[in-house]
Amino acid sequence: MNPPLLAGSGCTRILTILAAIVAAATCCSAATCSSESLKALLEFRKEFIDPSGKVFSTWNETVSDCCAWKGLTCQNEMLVVLDVEGPSGTGSDFVTSNKSYSSKPGHSLSKLKDLQTLRLKNILFSSKIPSQWSSFSDSLVELTVNNCDLQGSIPSGLASNIHLKSLDLMSNNLKGGIPSKLCNLKELKYLDLSYNELNTSTVPDCMTSGRGYTMNVSYGHQSHNSGTGSPQSAPSGGGSASSPSSYGTSGGGATILDKSKDNALLLSAVASIAIYCLV
Ligand SMILES: *[C@@H]1O[C@H](CO)[C@@H](O)[C@H](O)[C@H]1NC(C)=O
Ligand SMILES: *[C@@H]1O[C@H](CO)[C@@H](O)[C@H](O)[C@H]1NC(C)=O
Ligand SMILES: *[C@@H]1O[C@H](CO)[C@@H](O)[C@H](O)[C@H]1NC(C)=O
Ligand SMILES: *[C@@H]1O[C@H](CO)[C@@H](O)[C@H](O)[C@H]1NC(C)=O
Repeated sequence: MNPPLLAGSGCTRILTILAAIVAAATCCSAATCSSESLKALLEFRKEFIDPSGKVFSTWNETVSDCCAWKGLTCQNEMLVVLDVEGPSGTGSDFVTSNKSYSSKPGHSLSKLKDLQTLRLKNILFSSKIPSQWSSFSDSLVELTVNNCDLQGSIPSGLASNIHLKSLDLMSNNLKGGIPSKLCNLKELKYLDLSYNELNTSTVPDCMTSGRGYTMNVSYGHQSHNSGTGSPQSAPSGGGSASSPSSYGTSGGGATILDKSKDNALLLSAVASIAIYCLV
């Protein structure tokens, strides 16, 4: 009876369906960060106070794709690199752990299942190495924690992360001996334990020079201005001067999946139909 109206309702139906498709695509296109990773990262974030707001400014659950957060790199929808550096020097903007929130900051990082590189610098833990760091995922090849005021002894459990190629705990406040279990890390190429308070009167055999090992080891009890808790810039001369290059397949640049193109296509399709319906 009224053809224009019928045509209009038909168009409305199509538009409604298309709008639903667009909404669904938009809602889920950012889901490259698993909910487990997201939870672990938010936990880590909450354990620290970032006075300047610069270090963790993008670590916000309103951006549910953690691959877009500063310091995180994803490849093939997997979070493979966490590389976060706090301010150095002597300002009041140090990133420090929030003692009233958690007594074991960093414990949740072992839940990042695909992590290959964990690199932290100038993030003040002022606590022990969490026991959970004995069970990182098998994909972890680099563990670098510099100037982070790690305290207590080096847990021998770190040697359970059997695929580590680089272990760098330079410039913390670690005490006690060097666990001989670290010699179980057969793939280790770089070990830097310098600028700590370690007792180096007994060093595991595999770390002493001239034994044919191909490891770069640095463990010297270098003078370290402990007590202030303030991070220091990496010392030059003595210890291991070379900084570890990246190992494994990490560091190949962020692969932030761009689904916005798909959405743009959908939107233009909807727009075409809307124009068709209006005309
Ligand atoms: C996350 O972002 C929202 C919106 O931009 C903001 O209101 C909120 O304070 C942020 N949360 C944190 C922890 O930065
Ligand atoms: C530290 O943690 C406590 C307990 O969760 C919280 O109430 C407080 O706001 C946190 N402080 C900062 C500066 O984030
Ligand atoms: C360092 O280790 C050696 C050997 O285990 C031990 O005899 C010595 O007492 C330790 N020194 C300190 C200061 O703990
Ligand atoms: C050890 O360090 C030296 C000098 O920085 C470098 O030439 C060498 O390739 C390193 N060896 C390994 C096994 O990484």
